[in-house]
Amino acid sequence: MKQYLQTPVFKAISQVADSIERETYVVGGFVRDLILKRQTTDIDIVVVGSGIEMARAVAKKLGGVKVSVFKNFGTAMFKYRGMEIEFVGARKESYHRNSRKPVVEDGTLEDDQNRRDFTINALALSLNEKSFGQLIDPFMGVKDIEAGIIRTPRDPVVTFSDDPLRMLRAIRFATQLGFRIEEKTFEGIVSQKERLEIISKERITEELNKMLMAPRPSMGFKLLEKTGLLPLILPELQALKGVEKINGIGHKDNFYHTLEVLDQLAERSDDLWLRWSALLHDIAKPRTKRFDPKVGWTFHSHNYVGMKMVPKIFQRLRLPQNEKMKFVQKMVELHMRPIVLSEEGVTDSAIRRLLFDAGDDIDSLMTLCEADITSKNEVKVRKFLRNFKIVRQKLKEIEEKDRIRNFQPPISGEEIMETFGLPPCKIVGEIKSAIKEAILEGTIHNDYEEARTFMLKKGKEMGLKG
Ligand code: CTP
Repeated sequence: MKQYLQTPVFKAISQVADSIERETYVVGGFVRDLILKRQTTDIDIVVVGSGIEMARAVAKKLGGVKVSVFKNFGTAMFKYRGMEIEFVGARKESYHRNSRKPVVEDGTLEDDQNRRDFTINALALSLNEKSFGQLIDPFMGVKDIEAGIIRTPRDPVVTFSDDPLRMLRAIRFATQLGFRIEEKTFEGIVSQKERLEIISKERITEELNKMLMAPRPSMGFKLLEKTGLLPLILPELQALKGVEKINGIGHKDNFYHTLEVLDQLAERSDDLWLRWSALLHDIAKPRTKRFDPKVGWTFHSHNYVGMKMVPKIFQRLRLPQNEKMKFVQKMVELHMRPIVLSEEGVTDSAIRRLLFDAGDDIDSLMTLCEADITSKNEVKVRKFLRNFKIVRQKLKEIEEKDRIRNFQPPISGEEIMETFGLPPCKIVGEIKSAIKEAILEGTIHNDYEEARTFMLKKGKEMGLKG
């Protein structure tokens, strides 16, 4: 490990540690990620003594570094060459039942390692000169890293009850790293799941976002479901699970379908909000499900009802109520349009309408739709993807020709009012929308002169004088 610690920061910490005679270690995620060869910018330093004093001394040695001190927490941090380095005194923690905020006392390195969440996060590397780079691994965390196992160092019931956020962290690390949660640890989550109620929504959502950004996010949501945490976080997603049968006719399990879509989308896009859209695209299927003896199971308007469900879900999870949410709503609402198009024939006017409704988000929508094909029938999948290629090509052609993506009506309301001597009224809106319809239908081009001629004709038909 020594060779990875030959940087100015670690050398400065080492020198200061020896000069003020304090045991000092780099701990936690940094050591874990070093072994996993993952990029990190966060370095956590534990000092058996005062973290604040150490941070100040190291900053002075490095020069030109501004230290932020958090007296209440006994921590201090500074940024150096793109790294964030946090210093804290070694501590012993005890917890109260109703809070994840522990009572903290000074402790030894051993106390500090004992209070950590997982064996893979409880590793420490010594930074003092005589033992520089030595690994202290009391719970065989390296072995668990090699075997790909998430395990708590102590009784999982205690670890999770102390800080229930760790249940989500276990699932999130398993998802990010492709690790397995060891059985007892898994059972610990199942037994402590109700404790999640003391965790703030913001923290829960932070973990969900991290799961969503993992290479295969389905893993996280399957684990949430299996542990029984999912109904406490996203009951709407839980409701997608299961297959109902009437007259021997079943529908697909929309939970597993959704997760397949999410994974396929994750292969194509790193956009968190498009990943949320994939997760929620069929969210209204349980609410809209009907059995029609003639056609079997239907989910009429599930896209529309789903779009309406998004704000509540976002609010509950403290996700932003801004244009990000509107984007997710738009994706949920429109997610079936390209597929319907590719099945029913690609007319120019249908393409123009899709461009008009999706605007600049058309590429994201197409990506979501391609991910939405989860049929096991390869011939069917190939046919869909071929059709999508045609839709994409058509979208390009029509956009080049008609510029619908950022549609601005060629004739303004003011011009309509002036031409016909009208006050602001319903008729103005009607004429405006007739012009828009004519452009989308392809009756006229998206062009000022053509639109003006159309307006005059329309006015005449309505008995207006222009
Ligand atoms: N930790 C813990 N219990 C928590 C949060 C953190 O025991 N609920 C400990 C772990 O030892 C962890 C370290 O504090 O490694 C740092 O926490 P954090 O920065 O949140 O996580 P990392 O492990 O660094 O991973 P990531 O940055 O991916 O969250």
